[in-house]
Amino acid sequence: MPFDVEAVRRDFPILSRQINGKPLIYLDSGASAQKPTAVIDAMSHHMAQSYANVHRGLHRLANEVTDAFEAGREAVAKFINAARSEEVIFTKSATESMNLVAQTWGLANITAGDEILITELEHHANIVPWHMLAQRTGAVLKWVPILEDGSLDMAAFDQLLTNRVKLVAVAHMSNVLGTINPVEAIIEKAHAVGARVLIDGCQGVVHLPVDVQALGCDFYAFSAHKLYGPTGLGVLWGRYDLLEAMPPWQGGGEMIARVSKEMITYAEPPHRFEAGTPAILEVIGLKAAIDWLSQIDREAAAAHEVALYKRAHAGLKKINALRIYGEAAEKGSILTFSLGSAHAHDVAQILDRYNIAVRAGTHCAEPLMTRLGVTSTVRASIALYNTEAEIDALIAAVEKAQGFFE
Ligand code: ALA
Repeated sequence: MPFDVEAVRRDFPILSRQINGKPLIYLDSGASAQKPTAVIDAMSHHMAQSYANVHRGLHRLANEVTDAFEAGREAVAKFINAARSEEVIFTKSATESMNLVAQTWGLANITAGDEILITELEHHANIVPWHMLAQRTGAVLKWVPILEDGSLDMAAFDQLLTNRVKLVAVAHMSNVLGTINPVEAIIEKAHAVGARVLIDGCQGVVHLPVDVQALGCDFYAFSAHKLYGPTGLGVLWGRYDLLEAMPPWQGGGEMIARVSKEMITYAEPPHRFEAGTPAILEVIGLKAAIDWLSQIDREAAAAHEVALYKRAHAGLKKINALRIYGEAAEKGSILTFSLGSAHAHDVAQILDRYNIAVRAGTHCAEPLMTRLGVTSTVRASIALYNTEAEIDALIAAVEKAQGFFE
């Protein structure tokens, strides 16, 4: 059955918004995706009818909302094929998920002289926590370079992967170049030298099927808001044996087994890592997003996104002054470009006049910008609700924008 983009669009109220009498063209889903009615309704239903704190109360509302919250954990576990739901930790963001690993697993397992291997195409969330960990422990941060097409230099990876490497942290899919990294090969090779592997799945989980058991990684992090769910919620999946051995991070309610004046014992995972009241409504919203996604043919949705990417690529490529960054054979629906010597912010502002929303700047990936030899780029990130007409409008608007800078 062909992918019915109009039916999908009807599920997103914001997509029928008009600005100055013209439709909104949202090509910034890589930064944050729009929300289907199912998510909005689930959250507002619980806020209006079934809300209390979780895990603490013995009354009806507390029980209802605790069940809904824990059903969210089950839904996430099923969505990424975790072996058990206790492997799913809720954080406030994917950034927090990576900081959690750095400051718990990292501080317990990384020492001076150890190496942490990351890549040139990482988002700051998968760079800065490791920089900080290296500074605290005396470990060394090493970088896998990228090739001209934006794919990882796997020959360099092989050279860099010595038995000094204790952790490899890599994006499933680049938020700037769209490159889909060969994470299966990376995981297998890293495990062969005894290293652990963390996958930054922020973009990957949105566009690719994720099966953490089949991947065989040790940690997989992502955020809810890029997956059509709410902001303020991140997920850290970790293999249970690793989580069980990890010391707690933040202290407070919920993460303890017992507390006295003299001592503390800690809860088992996942609660050990969930101090304080969690993002209750957001977890309920994420479950609604996952349920919504589960009734969509995700393979057809991915094919739709890639077809739109190819259409955008073909159209934009014809514009003389335009340069596209990232043309790896394996890539998803993210298109990053610059337009002559125009500043990316100026290009984005011109596109905004046509109601086209893109991201411009460094995309939280300054080492990558340095590698590309640019200070900023424009990024169109395509989601399953985008259309051919929107892509054609982008191409036409960039053509017009070119005129401003000639
Ligand atoms: N990480 C998000 C992006 O790439 C914010 O735009």
